[in-house]
Formats: sequence, structure tokens, C-alpha cells
Amino acid sequence: MALVTSTEMFKKAYAGGYAIGAFNVNNMEIVQAITEAAAELKSPVILQASAGARKYANSIYLVKLVEAAVELHPEVPMVLHLDHGADFATCKSCIDGGFTSVMIDYSSHSFEENIEESRKVAEYAHERGVVVEAELGTLAGIEDAVSVDADKAMFTDPDQVEEFVTKTGVDSLAIAIGTSHGAYKFKPGTDPKLRLDILAEVSRRLPGFPIVLHGSSSVPQEYVKIINANGGALKDAIGIPEDQLREAAKGAVCKINIDSDLRLGMTAGVRQHFVEHPDHFDPRQYLTVGRQNVKDIVAHKIINVLGSDGKI
Ligand code: G3H
Ligand code: 13P
Ligand code: ZN
Repeated sequence: MALVTSTEMFKKAYAGGYAIGAFNVNNMEIVQAITEAAAELKSPVILQASAGARKYANSIYLVKLVEAAVELHPEVPMVLHLDHGADFATCKSCIDGGFTSVMIDYSSHSFEENIEESRKVAEYAHERGVVVEAELGTLAGIEDAVSVDADKAMFTDPDQVEEFVTKTGVDSLAIAIGTSHGAYKFKPGTDPKLRLDILAEVSRRLPGFPIVLHGSSSVPQEYVKIINANGGALKDAIGIPEDQLREAAKGAVCKINIDSDLRLGMTAGVRQHFVEHPDHFDPRQYLTVGRQNVKDIVAHKIINVLGSDGKI
């Protein structure tokens, strides 16, 4: 099977009460880890590349790595998605370059500008068989060079969603209900809670329409501990409780974005390996451990958070 769009995946996920994992890819080991876990668990999967990833690896390498994964696992439906496309030009370059899905993230602009840019991207993408995700509301945290303070973050206003989707023609919508980017999502001592009431209201206004959650890492404490026990200094890293994500996946949420957890797994493996084997200097030795951690984390998400195992 060649790369696919998320259209069929989302239809089945919505009807089946599960979600598709959208995992960020930056290098070969991460692509391998995600797609091997998906293949072993018979789960569809979305591989997404941010502007930072495209700059780090070069977009052509990422496209070819994902194409290699498709060739090795032809039974797994895979989407190659642009994460947080900053503008029409970035989305166009990915649409022209082999991506099957793009996100236009104009959420920090005015409602009217967001509609206009998203509409333009949807028109260009649809003419070429590519699907589009847009965002309404603002998440706190760090995406590439853009850092949004928690007090500037805004929940999605359900009153805006019908007009936005109708006027833009986008295929899925990312909403802000209390998730945020990065490993420091909540202050220690606070009770992490997603606004599932906003999600319910949005899905009431957009029946059957796929909703996306960004910033959905859970920051597994076992990996934070390994990092800190091996020379790291991650203080008060706290993520989204997995049971709340599972709840969201049972409803309108069809795509759940996870990046930070994979970074933690890779870093924990590499740090631990260096401490245990100070004489090693072959990247294949320590990257093997990091890659295995990423694979374990993706498998855990597929089974326990997304519920997408066995859905091929
Ligand atoms: O949404 C942000 C993702 O974690 C990508 O992060 O922009 O540092 O590649 P990045
Ligand atoms: P995390 O930082 O919670 O992994 O979020 C990733 C994300 O939203 C990518 O778009
Ligand atoms: Zn995101």
C-alpha cells in the first residue's frame, strides 16, 4: 500500500471509538520504532514532521524514510503529515513534495485570517488529493520557535467551529481543551484536567467530524526517572493523564499527537546506555536502546491510549 490520506482512517476511528496516533518523526530510528510497533500491533498510523524536523533532517530524507517504512510494512495504512504548517507556502511545499496530509496552523492569527489561510490551503490540497487539518484556539507550550505562555493560551470557542469548518472546507480540526506542548504541562500539585465538556460541545456542533488533540504526551515518570538518574535534570515534568486521553479517543477525537514522550524514551535509553557503558562510542549501540524505548512507548500508546491495535 502506498501512503494514504487520513480520510478512511478517521471515518473508522470515529465509528469505532478509537483514535489514530500521530507521532513526530525526526530521524531513521524514530521512523523505524513507530512503524515497527504499528506493524506488530496491526495499527494504522500517522507520521508527522514539523518545520524543525524538516530543517534538521531535510524534508526529502524524511519523505524517503517514510516511503521505506511503507515498503517494509505494506499492510500498514500510513499517512505522512505536516505538523504545524506556518503558512500556505510551507503547506504547498509539503503537498508538492509527497505528503498526504498537512496542518495549517494559523490559530495565533485573527479568526478571519485563520479562515482565509486555511481555506486557501484546503483548496490547493484538495485539488491534489491531500487532506488538511486546521486549528482553532491556542495551546500553551513550545512549537518550533513559537512559545505560547499559559496565560495567553485560549480554549476553543464552540460557537466558532461550525462557521470555521464550513467556510474553510478543512478535513479535521485541532482544538484547545487544556493540552499543551512539551514536557511541562501542569504545575506540581495541580490536578491535570482536560475540558472534555468543550470537546462534547464541539462534537455536538460538528457531528461526525474528526477532532485532533495536540500536546497529548503523558510524560511517563519511569522515563523521567531514568533520565534524572543518569545525569539529566528534568524537574517537575508532568503530562496529560492517559485515562483522559482514552476518554477523548472514545468520542470525536480521531487523531492524538505525541512527540515529547518519544523524546523522553530516546533520551532515557541513550543516557542510561552511556552511564552503563562509558567505553562505548558506536552510535548503533546507544541508538538501539533509544529506538527500543520509542517502540515500547508507541506500542503502549496504541494499546492503552489510542485503542487502534488490530484495526487494520
Ligand atoms: O508540536 C510540536 C512538536 O512537538 C514538534 O516539535 O517543532 O520542536 O519539532 P518541534
Ligand atoms: P507533545 O509535546 O505533548 O508530545 O505534543 C506533540 C504535538 O502536539 C505535535 O504537534
Ligand atoms: Zn502540536
